[in-house]
Formats: sequence, structure tokens, C-alpha cells
Amino acid sequence: MSDTTTPYYQRHIFFCLNERSNGENCCAQHGAQQAFERCKMLVKQQGLMGPGKVRVNKAGCMDRCAGGPIAVVYPEGVWYTYVDEADIDEIVESHLKNGVVVERLRTPPELGR
Ligand code: FES
Repeated sequence: MSDTTTPYYQRHIFFCLNERSNGENCCAQHGAQQAFERCKMLVKQQGLMGPGKVRVNKAGCMDRCAGGPIAVVYPEGVWYTYVDEADIDEIVESHLKNGVVVERLRTPPELGR
């Protein structure tokens, strides 16, 4: 019998890749695709990808566009607003690999849509 309390992935990161054609603010305007690709590449390169480890996923709008570009990590439910490649590198190294939240990149709690 399988253990239902053990999560399939230890950590799961979702990147909003939403793109709006009407000119409204969206994560795709702020380098979300590149950030997603970089995160995936790093996780793979470091052997962190797979069951019991980490999964990097695309997501649509998570309704926190004002804090974009947005990524969220579960099971901790930590929301990040990243700016550049160095931020992605830090999220991978610190949070996804070592379980330490990158406090300076946390999305301010009041930022929604
Ligand atoms: S467009 Fe990314 S959270 Fe809404």
C-alpha cells in the first residue's frame, strides 16, 4: 500500500506565464517565460527534478498580477516576485534545493490583481 501522506513532489513551483493581448499588465511582459526556462534548466542540471524532488510547472494567471512576475512554491505556499536571472538562481539554490525561503523576494501580501 502506498503512503498517502508522502507528497509526490517535495516541492512544486508554478510560474505564471499569462499573456494579455489587450495591453493590460501581465507576467509575460516581465520575462516570465525566460525565468521559467531558466528555473527548469537549473533544477534539471542539479539533479533536483522528479518524483520525491522538485517539479517546475507553467501556470496561467494566479490573480496577483500587481506583484508580477509571479511564482509560487508549494507546499509552503510562498509567493515570489522575481526580477532577473539572479533571483531565479537564488530561489532554486535556497528554496527549492535547501528549503530556505528567500525572504527578500516574497511578494508583498497586499498585492493582488
Ligand atoms: S498575469 Fe500573472 S498573476 Fe496575473
